Amino acid sequence: MCGIIGYTGVKGAQEIMLDALEILEYRGYDSAGIAVCGEDSCVRIRKCAGRVKDLRLLCEKDGILGTCGIGHTRWATHGGVSDANAHPHRFGKVTVTHNGIVENYRDLVQRYRLEERLQSQTDSEVAAAVLDHFYSGDPLAAIRKTVLKLKGTFALSIMFEDIPGTIFAVRNVSPIVIARAQGGSMLASDVTVLGQYSKEYFVLPEFYVAVLKAGGVELYDMAGETAEPEWLTVNWDVDRSGKGGYPFYMEKEIMEQPQVIRETVLPRIQGGIPDLSGDGIPDSLLADCTRICVVACGTAMHAGLVGKALMQSLVRIHMDVELASEFMYTDVIVDEETLVIAISQSGETIDTLEAVKHAKKNGAKTLAIVNVRGASVARASDYVIYTNAGPEIAVASTKAYTTQLAVLYLLTGRMAYVRGSFGEEEAKAFARELMRVPEVMQKVLDRREEIHYIARSILNAQDVFMMGRGLDHAILLEGSLKLKEISYIHSEAYASGELKHGTIALITEDTPVVAVVTQDKVKSKEFSNIKEVQSRGAGVILFIKETFGLEKDAVWDSVFMLPAMEDGFMVMPASAALQLLAYYVSLDKGLDVDKPRNLAKVVTVE
Ligand code: AGP
Repeated sequence: MCGIIGYTGVKGAQEIMLDALEILEYRGYDSAGIAVCGEDSCVRIRKCAGRVKDLRLLCEKDGILGTCGIGHTRWATHGGVSDANAHPHRFGKVTVTHNGIVENYRDLVQRYRLEERLQSQTDSEVAAAVLDHFYSGDPLAAIRKTVLKLKGTFALSIMFEDIPGTIFAVRNVSPIVIARAQGGSMLASDVTVLGQYSKEYFVLPEFYVAVLKAGGVELYDMAGETAEPEWLTVNWDVDRSGKGGYPFYMEKEIMEQPQVIRETVLPRIQGGIPDLSGDGIPDSLLADCTRICVVACGTAMHAGLVGKALMQSLVRIHMDVELASEFMYTDVIVDEETLVIAISQSGETIDTLEAVKHAKKNGAKTLAIVNVRGASVARASDYVIYTNAGPEIAVASTKAYTTQLAVLYLLTGRMAYVRGSFGEEEAKAFARELMRVPEVMQKVLDRREEIHYIARSILNAQDVFMMGRGLDHAILLEGSLKLKEISYIHSEAYASGELKHGTIALITEDTPVVAVVTQDKVKSKEFSNIKEVQSRGAGVILFIKETFGLEKDAVWDSVFMLPAMEDGFMVMPASAALQLLAYYVSLDKGLDVDKPRNLAKVVTVE
């Protein structure tokens, strides 16, 4: 989850790394640090608890001149947030930054008698110590011996004190990408930052060692044989990664949704019908499976729930949605006839990655829906469909979610067509409605100040309940997660009919309720359930499909009329409205919307 950067070349390493770390902060932001090999060939470290801006201040007072360095922004796992636990860590001749978890660090501490010699409580310093133990002038041999000792996940960037101007990198699971840029060579934990500097990059293969020098990059396998990198092209517009005049990335990313959904959908409609052949998805994959199982976490898992509702009603295929983190431990049944769909914005979520590997071992076919090209989940899967959301920087996922939904609509439409649930005309009508999503969603975004006004009514709430049925419930699970993660208001989304089986005990005049009503077939039941909470004193904020109309005698705290689409597509405008609700609550509470406490954008620990 931590951000890693490294640069060696002809320019000042400190400035390049500080700029890059600011971009990488979304991966973790509780401490930051850099190590630079100075002109006298000594490696010096500056690091501190806090944000990159604090590190910048430190470097302004006491900077390090030099053209080779490694940097890190941390999301704490082992050891609290402190200056000492911030990376880089130096042990003897070795300086490292690390992303991942060394699971056997306690054994290593004992085995190499490190107890008295460590300066921090981190597993990362232990990795540096083991490297130093094995280092006697041959860096590749030391790295080789060290990785054989490490259990767990790691992306290590390494400098040896007596090899100035050179950075070594090795990884297992946790990603490292490498590019030629800025008059030298660069490495980073993800392409979002390298894309600012270079159009071409490669993903360091697991258990290969990259050697970065000012003049170029060499790649070696564990036997010490040279290897050729597989170069990839950055697939998104780097201009999209600025804030574009908005105060926070989250607002900008919410506002980008019509455009990125259009870019995700339009190339995949051919002859008026959803068509995934451009992504290399054979119709047989969709026609031959007997069931589908989604593996994903957080928001991506919520996208899966919407997919499940669509697939089951339109394709009539059995579909499960599994939390990727539970998948391996709950004896889920997958076999050769199961299509496992892994959904992940980053493509680096380790739980999702491990779930894909587990599914493949059990014979399932695997299809990834991923935003970041070349990411681990994409590479581990048999097939991949990329969402064209562009870089998503805010920790709270918005445009990645709705482009995941767009891909799930495309899959549903194509699957229904190839399995005969849709005839040609039905498939075309479905695609036409999907193509309307950007314009309908834009109508919600254009009225965002109405939602801003509504948000003020829950600013001081301790708890907010959300209720809806069917697809409305699936959307609210995501709306509730958004509110929790960026506003710190406790919130729960309930299937409306379920509240009375216990949770209604918590409803009082102090628990505002957000209700979404967009599904005609359950509309009247939803209104009855809403009356149940109103009778207990709760004020209700209603998001309702505009064509449904309101009962004359009903009293609402606020109402937002959602522009109409067919019921199955109302997820899209409703999601945008709920994202805006969470955003404005967080904004008006004066919180750091893009970097909520305790979170990181990419979750690479189990
Ligand atoms: C969403 O707002 C979250 N920050 C989080 O739930 C996220 O969706 C989850 O960690 C999965 O990430 P992924 O899509 O990169 O796999």
